[in-house]
Amino acid sequence: MLRVADLSKDYPTPRGPLRVLSGVSFDLAPGDAAAVMGPSGSGKSSLLYILGTLEPPSSGTVTLDGRNPFELGAAALAVFRNRCIGFVFQDHCLLPQCTVLENVLVPTLVAPDGERNTARASESRARELIDRVGLTDRIDHRPGELSGGERQRAAIARALVRAPRLLLCDEPTGNLDRATAQDVASLLLDVHRLQKTVLVVVTHSAALAEQFPTRFDLTDTRLTRTGR
Ligand SMILES: Nc1ncnc2c1ncn2[C@@H]1O[C@H](COP(=O)(O)OP(=O)(O)O)[C@@H](O)[C@H]1O
Ligand SMILES: [Mg+2]
Repeated sequence: MLRVADLSKDYPTPRGPLRVLSGVSFDLAPGDAAAVMGPSGSGKSSLLYILGTLEPPSSGTVTLDGRNPFELGAAALAVFRNRCIGFVFQDHCLLPQCTVLENVLVPTLVAPDGERNTARASESRARELIDRVGLTDRIDHRPGELSGGERQRAAIARALVRAPRLLLCDEPTGNLDRATAQDVASLLLDVHRLQKTVLVVVTHSAALAEQFPTRFDLTDTRLTRTGR
């Protein structure tokens, strides 16, 4: 369960604090999928970065399965993030010199000692995910040898390789044409249904947002539920 309670975020600026989030509260259970829409600059990425523990809130709490990651020290926080959270960004952020298989395996390489899967188990999970996202024929390609949609498919497989409880996607189809965006969106919802993560997707696309059972709008620092 992802529980967000009375979250606010201010960025310090030379002209004083810039408020981007006020009083944001919501709960999402495993299997829930939510889309966040809102104007450019309204704080959507900031919210996602806080949920992903990449940025601390100014006040309020975020808990995932009852644990508040912001109470952890730096090393424990890195472990938490690696273990519990998957990210897909607008720009795929794949390593250009690595193949699809190697890219999908990256999160398993930095997995903490003690809970590191064997290389063989990690590889078989990576191959299974690559198959699920339809890239088995491209498994040895480097990102430069993939289409935009294929790169996002690889990024989705990489985000899921550690079986995260929370999957966060920031404009995952923002750089894709409409048909490819639709493919990637369907894939995201399919894998989400199978994996039972909490899925939060930031999107500009009303067509993408409509496919999500839960929808939020972020405007003037406030998050409101617009669907269900
Ligand atoms: N690290 C930062 N320091 C100061 N201001 C920031 C920082 N990051 C984002 N902002 C500002 O916060 C606002 C929200 O940004 P962002 O969360 O990226 O919005 P969105 O993703 O909705 O376009 C913007 O006005 C942006 O300029
Ligand atoms: Mg953004």
